[in-house]
Amino acid sequence: MAKILIADDDPTILSLLNKILIAKGYDVKLAEHGGVAEKMLQSEQFDLLISDIKMEPVDGMQLLKKTRKMRPQVGVIMLTAYATVSTAVEAMKEGAFDYIPKPFKIDELLATVKRALDYQRSLAEQIGDQAHLETKKYFGNIVAESEGMVNVCEMIKRVAPTKTTVMVTGESGTGKELVAEALHSYSARAEGPFIPVNCGALPETLIESELFGHVKGAFTGANANKVGLFEAAKGGTLFLDEINSIPHQVQSKLLRAIQNKKIRKVGGTEEFEVDVRIVAASNQNLEALVKEGSFREDLFYRLSVISIEIPPLSQRPDDVLALAQHFIAQEMEGGEFPVMDNAVLAILQNYIWPGNVRELQNVIQHSLTFMKDNKITKETLPSKLIVSYEENPSAQNAALTGEFERGKSLKAFLRAKEKEYLKNVINTMGGDKVKAAQELDISLATLYRKLPEEKKD
Ligand SMILES: Nc1ncnc2c1ncn2[C@@H]1O[C@H](COP(=O)(O)OP(=O)(O)OP(=O)(O)O)[C@@H](O)[C@H]1O
Ligand SMILES: [Mg+2]
Repeated sequence: MAKILIADDDPTILSLLNKILIAKGYDVKLAEHGGVAEKMLQSEQFDLLISDIKMEPVDGMQLLKKTRKMRPQVGVIMLTAYATVSTAVEAMKEGAFDYIPKPFKIDELLATVKRALDYQRSLAEQIGDQAHLETKKYFGNIVAESEGMVNVCEMIKRVAPTKTTVMVTGESGTGKELVAEALHSYSARAEGPFIPVNCGALPETLIESELFGHVKGAFTGANANKVGLFEAAKGGTLFLDEINSIPHQVQSKLLRAIQNKKIRKVGGTEEFEVDVRIVAASNQNLEALVKEGSFREDLFYRLSVISIEIPPLSQRPDDVLALAQHFIAQEMEGGEFPVMDNAVLAILQNYIWPGNVRELQNVIQHSLTFMKDNKITKETLPSKLIVSYEENPSAQNAALTGEFERGKSLKAFLRAKEKEYLKNVINTMGGDKVKAAQELDISLATLYRKLPEEKKD
């Protein structure tokens, strides 16, 4: 049974939690402040820590930081009588799983404890079976080789299981919808619906009734009762994409829906409860819209309790090859994997990708359409990529020189150097890759993985 450590300087809370959790069969240990808890964490194994924030002399935030460092596998839930958004957010940024405001309801507490334990368990399993994967893929379908994207995925892991509203920002085509889907499928609501709504595509006059539904006769053309998207997303996640296009008068209704978890249909009289998690995305800078007065400040803060920013693809060149391979695999549907020229890789890494990942996906589809003999060569790429490459002569040697080049990460440089060395060894062995692999002390499969273009000749 899971082992839980509770740290609180209030003896009543300690004994209350002790009783509740023991009754559920958990193995519980108590600490009367952060210092005691720290010592116990050093000497014993725990699955979960429940800690008060305000404690003397070692407080909950300090204990949280130490636990994350010392025992990263231990989930942490914060208890707070000071349920301000800022302390909660700060604690979650430091890696707390969730927070529980005091006073709490017993079943809510137990549900959070269970979620935290399930989450820690699935994390441990995921880490275990991800270890042997070549390309890092999070949540089964998010490619993340670059530090920037790995951070995004780590953030998703932390935030998904909580109830918090999340704002996803990023240029067009960076993967905002993909992130929203991951937030849903990694949450306790995964079995419920995921409903994406493009607020920008709905006519202003219809947004309100689309979101909240309407009753028969509410306006001309309302011939029957309509279920709104909030209601349709019950028990799941509503993804409000392009939230910046929501008209001002609907913004206040949306704010109320999020704050009170209650909605009223257009033309309806009664309010009813809705249980949905909101994830929003914007393709415009919402803060600027707030300053300008076209987006409500209170709604903005409600929506962005936690925000996840996806960097543009040009800032994460380490993802380009991995994404290209991911899209090729997707298109080939298990057919024979095509060979990619080294030149193609250099061209892909040089390009600035104004349309981000979606543009890369289109380029791969284009290449596969024009490919001959299962080879992706320069000729199969759209001409704008070639033009941009030829206009930038330094890019042409960039892959192998040791000179500093903006946008060339250490990883990209090392990968290019590694390729050069592998090819030298193969040549020295007269093209015998089995021998080359032996000399290199790696398996033949690893050699092919590092040099996919050598795989068939
Ligand atoms: N890291 C990634 N790994 C795998 N696929 C990705 C990744 N990022 C984006 N994609 C894919 O790229 C395409 C564009 O992503 P998505 O639609 O989520 O972008 P978006 O930010 O919502 O774009 P827009 O602002 O135009 O709505 C999708 O097909 C998505 O699956
Ligand atoms: Mg989108």
